[in-house]
Amino acid sequence: MNESAPAGLAVVREVPALRAAVAAWRRQGARIAFVPTMGNLHAGHFALVEEARRQADRVVASIFVNPTQFGPSEDFQRYPRTPEQDAQGLARVGCDLLFLPDVETLYPLGVERSVRIVVPDLADVLCGAHRPGHFAGVATVVARLFNLVQPDVAVFGRKDLQQLQLIRHLVADLAFPVRILGVPTRREADGLALSSRNQYLDAEQRQRAPALYRALRGLLTEVRAGVAVGRAERAAAEALAAQGFEVDYVAVRRESALHSPVVAFEQQPDLVALGAARLGTTRLIDNVALAELED
Ligand code: PAF
Repeated sequence: MNESAPAGLAVVREVPALRAAVAAWRRQGARIAFVPTMGNLHAGHFALVEEARRQADRVVASIFVNPTQFGPSEDFQRYPRTPEQDAQGLARVGCDLLFLPDVETLYPLGVERSVRIVVPDLADVLCGAHRPGHFAGVATVVARLFNLVQPDVAVFGRKDLQQLQLIRHLVADLAFPVRILGVPTRREADGLALSSRNQYLDAEQRQRAPALYRALRGLLTEVRAGVAVGRAERAAAEALAAQGFEVDYVAVRRESALHSPVVAFEQQPDLVALGAARLGTTRLIDNVALAELED
């Protein structure tokens, strides 16, 4: 990719160039916001950049398809890579710098010999129970990126709520001087959460896919109405299975304690329903918070 394109966006691949750009902005007193991504950007990512723009004077985005967060049978090789198109979009929404490292830049000792960061509890439940090692890969790459970019604020999507909470935990525990901001999930008109993986769905699967969002809304509505959590979760999972989903989990949790099962509705304001399910080979995830039920 041409390092100077497109206009208004600096594209850097190496750490010294990244550090020089950020240091120059710091000397001018600028605050830096950061949006880490794996690319193939859609409106959900651009909303993160727009929020970053509001939070700081300069915005850095990264695109890196991180090998350490993919399992051996997952979609690392086929994950969509569209850097030219992404750079155009980032320039359009006012991103200042795109960091586009390769694997050797982010893992200079090699992936196998790299230090890993393991976040206890949170990494092993919900999506973590079905994707062993995934969250260690996420925590590791995010910590590396934070050290390289050294942002004041970093912006993540709420669609990956478990990831967001894990990063909050990481930052608090390791005392990274970064404020973490979560941005609401962007959805298609029929409710399907925007995701780079939606393009794997064929036309018929795409029609069925919003059922996950509907099931999570229904689950939380039932629990709010007093149905026992375990019973409501089982019913939601069965309804999805009947529609052809292979369900990894559907669960009601408190956002502030995702690792602890919730037994019954107790007027907890941060209650959230989360789910992950496959249609064919495509794994979809989503979540709905209590406050969103009124939307
Ligand atoms: O959410 C993502 O796109 C990735 O998990 C992240 C945070 C960029 C780390 O690779």
